[in-house]
Amino acid sequence: MSRVIYVNGLYKPYADAAIHAEDRGFQFADSVYEVIEVLSCKLVDEGRHLDRLARSLSQIEMKMPMTRPALAFVIRETIRRNSVRDGIVYLQVSRGAGPRDFAMPNDSVRPTVVVIARQQSQSKLAALADIGIAVVSMPDIRWGRSDIKSVMLLPACLAKASAKRAGAREAWFTDPNGFVTEGASSNAWIVNGSGKLVTRQLDNRILGGVTRAGVKDVAAQVAIEIEERPFSLTEALSAKEAFITSATNTVMPVTKIDNTMIGDGRPGPVTLRLRSRFHHVAEFRGD
Ligand code: PDD
Repeated sequence: MSRVIYVNGLYKPYADAAIHAEDRGFQFADSVYEVIEVLSCKLVDEGRHLDRLARSLSQIEMKMPMTRPALAFVIRETIRRNSVRDGIVYLQVSRGAGPRDFAMPNDSVRPTVVVIARQQSQSKLAALADIGIAVVSMPDIRWGRSDIKSVMLLPACLAKASAKRAGAREAWFTDPNGFVTEGASSNAWIVNGSGKLVTRQLDNRILGGVTRAGVKDVAAQVAIEIEERPFSLTEALSAKEAFITSATNTVMPVTKIDNTMIGDGRPGPVTLRLRSRFHHVAEFRGD
């Protein structure tokens, strides 16, 4: 089946979809994005994702490129035209194109909007969750506003490449004090000796994950306590369980950090409980 991408008002075949060579997203990473899970043709937590998109845009002094209902329509249409049942929607908004100039363009420049929908195998993810993933730690070299979901992802790409070389699937960033901030493309969690969930509090060093918010909802329902505070790499290495959260993984067990096995080296019961309940608590929206 031929795939179609939405670019600035048009649904184009992959090979024909194009944006301007002087797009500010391309030249300056002057652009923000969202990744939304699609399950059984429905969007998972779309409301929270669009709220975060509006926040990211406002933080870089941009407005929503179209009304929310219009954007919701484009997202659904892209899913439909690509026959995606289980997968993701990728949505990117840049400040638009113009002759290269660091200063912001005037209001007549229209933002660039791109929407991509892609099938992603649920069974592959489930197989991975059965054994858990390895992560490796490295210094967080990103900018001071990681709470904005910007496409300035070079540090994350380098970290993922380095993790891959080490046989791991994700990198956990650490701040100068040795505290874990988050994953290269996920939020980081541990389960401590008392069975409490620990994850860093929301601040400018981490992205306010939509899945993170969903896991907080699940934890409240099943009465698991959460401590939102920095945790050190040392604390993580001796944790009972560890996991990551993101729209592409939901809850994914972490069974190894650097060269240390977490717990007994298998996905832990708390993690698996959160994973199995996640979609029961998340908001599903379709047509
Ligand atoms: N990444 N932290 C970072 C740095 C991320 O890039 C992501 C998501 C998250 C988790 O956010 P959410 O639960 O809303 O997906 C945390 C997406 C999936 C990506 O870039 O592909």
